[in-house]
Formats: sequence, C-alpha cells, structure tokens
Amino acid sequence: MAVTRTFSIIKPDATRRNLTGAVTSMLENAGLRVVASKRIHMTREQAEGFYAVHKERPFYGELCDFMTSGPVVVQVLEGEDAVKRNRDVMGATNPADAAEGTIRKSFAESIEANSVHGSDSDENAAIEIAFFFKPEEIVG
Ligand code: CMP
Repeated sequence: MAVTRTFSIIKPDATRRNLTGAVTSMLENAGLRVVASKRIHMTREQAEGFYAVHKERPFYGELCDFMTSGPVVVQVLEGEDAVKRNRDVMGATNPADAAEGTIRKSFAESIEANSVHGSDSDENAAIEIAFFFKPEEIVG
C-alpha cells in the first residue's frame, strides 16, 4: 500500500471544547502522521473558497458561518492509503450514522458541527492541501 497524504480540519466545535489533542491522538492511533499543522481563524473568503463545491447546497451559507465561528486546525496527514484511513477514523458525516470508535461518534455535535473534515479523494487532497499550505510548510 502506498504512503499518501490527505488534508484534515479540526473544526470550531472541537477547538472550542479543547479537543485538538484528543482528535489528533485518534488520527495518530489510526496510523496517520501529522506532517503539517496550523491553527487559524478562517476568513469568510477562505471558507467560501474551500467549500465552493457545495455552493448550491442549502447548507452552504450556514456551513461557512460555522467554519468562521472560531479557530480551526488545518493539517496534512501522511500514512498508508491516507485518504481512506482518515475517512475510516472520522466516521460518517452525520454523527448519528457514525460507527463506534470513530472521531465523529465520539465528539461530533451535529451534521454541521461534526468536529473534523477530511479529503474524499487523492485528487481533492492535493487541491485542499495546496489551498492552505506552501510546500515548504510540509515536513514529512
Ligand atoms: P465536510 O466533510 O467538512 O464537508 C462539507 C460539510 O458540510 C460536511 O462536512 C458537514 O459538516 C456540512 N454539512 C452541513 N449540513 C449538511 C448536510 N445536510 N449534508 C451534508 N453535509 C452537511
């Protein structure tokens, strides 16, 4: 299995409850390594740009409100089959559907305040990583 990278966000509901370490620990225990990390307060422009793919969805405005409501931690994660590994440990988007032992089952408050984001493909991982990180900020 190839070692690849994925992009992760620890969302405002999790930073607000001081869960950055707990979430990162679950990512590390799942075999992922943090090779870049920064805590930022997303601007409206960044949130709208990052989630542009959801622009036509009814929840887009509220999603951008939520993602700019407090600090987030953006991270690049590395590991074998990183996109799938991360999605497996995150659990389903809606915490009501998330499996036991996943981050969202453990911590998410709702489908919107669902504690973490993770890329859904290698192609989108590369786009999302480049949205927030310069190559020299990633140290594997
Ligand atoms: P994320 O992986 O960050 O990608 C888009 C986000 O939209 C998703 O996680 C959810 O937090 C959020 N969202 C809010 N409402 C919905 C909804 N009804 N269906 C899907 N995603 C939603």
